[in-house]
Amino acid sequence: MSISEAQPSPEKTEKAYSTYIEGFDGHLDGGIPQGHIVLISGAPGTMKSTMAFSILYNNAREDLASGLYVTLEQTRESLMRQMEKLGMFVGREFGVEILDLSVFRQGEEDWMGDSGEDGRRESPWFKKFRNILETQKKVIDYDLLVIDSLPLVEIVCGIRNSRYGLFRLFRWLHDLGTTTFIISENPPDERIVRESDFMADGILHLLMETSAELNLSRVLRCTKMREVNHDPGYYVLEYKDRRFWASPKRYDVGRMVSRL
Ligand SMILES: Nc1ncnc2c1ncn2[C@@H]1O[C@H](COP(=O)(O)OP(=O)(O)O)[C@@H](O)[C@H]1O
Ligand SMILES: [Mg+2]
Repeated sequence: MSISEAQPSPEKTEKAYSTYIEGFDGHLDGGIPQGHIVLISGAPGTMKSTMAFSILYNNAREDLASGLYVTLEQTRESLMRQMEKLGMFVGREFGVEILDLSVFRQGEEDWMGDSGEDGRRESPWFKKFRNILETQKKVIDYDLLVIDSLPLVEIVCGIRNSRYGLFRLFRWLHDLGTTTFIISENPPDERIVRESDFMADGILHLLMETSAELNLSRVLRCTKMREVNHDPGYYVLEYKDRRFWASPKRYDVGRMVSRL
């Protein structure tokens, strides 16, 4: 069951979406509360896009939610090929659509010429971005949304250095009523906290670790999940048999070399 009773109360029942990462949902108290905005952060190649897509795909497969994956980074074709190789599919029959807005980046000269958000004025590109997603909401009524990625939305929508613009983006996403996953860039230092970290309801952080034997492993950590009594520990993440698996990370102190 993907939508579970996360925190039942006498007044209302709150829903939570499973991540479909075997061995991990239990540590999230059943899943991600409906309506949350969750950052998926990590270095390139840590499988952020794949994990986000897998959450949409598996919830749709169980007929529990339909998903929209908005890509500004990778083209629809490239993303589809990647997911198909991993045993996941795109299209109405699978309940997951990919919306390719990489074309937005071709408007580079236009949005570069537009100073964007200054706290008072909204960038026309931001308006365009919102209109497209609101129209799609009417057309396919998606429950789960992925935005890949935050740095590109910030650039295209002219909110890169605008705290108010970022706040406006998060407030609009809350009003949209979806449960949203935003793929975020990796801070060079895990201890660095960004504006978006404060605004997000949850953070799933992906890391690549190198051991003294030069073995590389992907590691997952839920650093924040509002309203959830979650485990903030590290989990080794693997993709096999068409799904993600997480197992608690055991550290041999002094033998871990680096973390990216
Ligand atoms: N079957 C697989 N099992 C494990 N890793 C894979 C598999 N297929 C692709 N990858 C890895 O996934 C990575 C890309 O995942 P992706 O989700 O695009 O990462 P990110 O979005 O974090 O850059 C590549 O580095 C590739 O090596
Ligand atoms: Mg990616």
